Amino acid sequence: MKKTIVISLAAAAVLTAAVWIAPAWTEDEARPLLPYTDAARVAEGKALYGDYCASCHGVDLEGQQPNWQDRDADGYLPAPPHDENGHTWHHDNNLLMQIVREGTEAIVGGTYKSHMIGFGDVLSENEIASVLGYIKSTWPTEIQEIHNEINARRLP
Ligand code: HEC
Repeated sequence: MKKTIVISLAAAAVLTAAVWIAPAWTEDEARPLLPYTDAARVAEGKALYGDYCASCHGVDLEGQQPNWQDRDADGYLPAPPHDENGHTWHHDNNLLMQIVREGTEAIVGGTYKSHMIGFGDVLSENEIASVLGYIKSTWPTEIQEIHNEINARRLP
């Protein structure tokens, strides 16, 4: 147990160092702004959301209610809501893009099991950004602003 904590701390230190020495990013390159104020991109994202995401995350982004934080008997999490009640808005643009592109199993690694598959083979980068832009467009203004701050501060 103690060893695991030490190893995790070491990993965290390496990660922090990697972030610390990273060159200054511009919003356009490393953290593309999700197009949540662009009506055409939001409309495209909404249609894609209906086709690829709503079956699990809900037509109204409500997630698989009510116990979306509890794993089922097989160890899988239900799909979380994408509205302000969930934690999608806690994640910066890069992580959100990565989750949708690669899926959660690839990101967490090990034996982690998830129904959140990666869509990188079916959706282009722009389409993924449109879907996330649509999701962000539905958040209350103050949540959008907090999310902008999270990106500006480069917090995970
Ligand atoms: C087959 C069901 C399913 C489909 C379809 C699906 N998801 Fe997911 N999604 C999940 C589950 C389950 C999770 C929880 C991740 C985990 O298991 O750790 C998740 C997690 C996420 C997260 C992380 C959210 C958070 O609050 O941390 C994002 C972002 C996401 N999905 C976006 C999408 C998008 C965008 C689409 C459509 C392109 C999509 N998902 C389609 C099941 C699904």
